[in-house]
Amino acid sequence: MTHFLDIHKTDAADLRAIIDQARDMKEARGGCPRGMPDAEQPLAGRMVALIFEKPSTRTRVSFDVGVRQMGGQTMVLSGADMQLGHGETIADTARVMSRYVDLIMIRTFDESVLLEMAEHADVPVVNGLTDRTHPCQIMADILTYEEHRGPITGRQVVWSGDGNNVCASFLHAAAQFGFDLTFTGPMQLDPEPEFIGLARKAGRNVTIERDPAKAVAGADLVVTDTWVSMHDSQSTKERRHNMLRPYQVNAELMAQAKPDALFMHCLPAHRGEEVTSEVMDGPNSVIFDEAGNRLHAQKAILRHCLGV
Ligand code: CP
Ligand code: NVA
Repeated sequence: MTHFLDIHKTDAADLRAIIDQARDMKEARGGCPRGMPDAEQPLAGRMVALIFEKPSTRTRVSFDVGVRQMGGQTMVLSGADMQLGHGETIADTARVMSRYVDLIMIRTFDESVLLEMAEHADVPVVNGLTDRTHPCQIMADILTYEEHRGPITGRQVVWSGDGNNVCASFLHAAAQFGFDLTFTGPMQLDPEPEFIGLARKAGRNVTIERDPAKAVAGADLVVTDTWVSMHDSQSTKERRHNMLRPYQVNAELMAQAKPDALFMHCLPAHRGEEVTSEVMDGPNSVIFDEAGNRLHAQKAILRHCLGV
């Protein structure tokens, strides 16, 4: 069974093949995200379930459109509306769903839900974000970086802000795609040591630098994300904002990076909080290309999982 659960759980060669296929499929459409079906229909006759236990715009729409472009069909399910949200076990849900659909994409809270689903499903399971990681996002980010600047291998990526689920997948990607990563943020919000260790074990240079200006010096790519994720309690909002304010990505901070450094954000963004509108809408920002590339990256992930 070929699941797509996390970047560090997929072979580096397969990850590279996914990025290459995403780029080829995008080019075959003339780069056009909308409208016509793909000339090739590798998902013809396939049914994909998209389960959401958290809100989503990009993941929901890009998976749905991507499956349809490849000739498949989707059903979008809210976890709360399923028996899953009313006491049926994840294992039983996985066994039942496997009798109806060819692949399950799930966005959930605790990673254990994703892992249990994968353990008991007879079909591939794809991670559409958990509290801990967001691998599909980072595959789109790699595709985007390479479209603009060429191979990401050997580049310097700086993450500014909360060492959260998206940051975790960047650390996994550092190991698999061979780039270095500097984290700058408050100590209380450092990325998980286990994930830092994974990247370092793979020979990557992972640095923690509390001073954001020093951290971004020489950066090829500056990335941030919301200061309060969907899994964070709203009661922590004020404390988080106070801790994270020095790590806002603004024009002054971007000026410390390389002149051609790109800016990325998985979105949704909070303009004026983790990033200013000046940076989001500025010449170095590729945030909407990133969002657009969710479609192409995920289509290749689905083909990888289904072996088609
Ligand atoms: N970036 C991302 O995953 O966006 P959504 O929450 O809208 O799916
Ligand atoms: N870190 C954010 C990412 C949203 C796509 C969250 O988990 O809410």
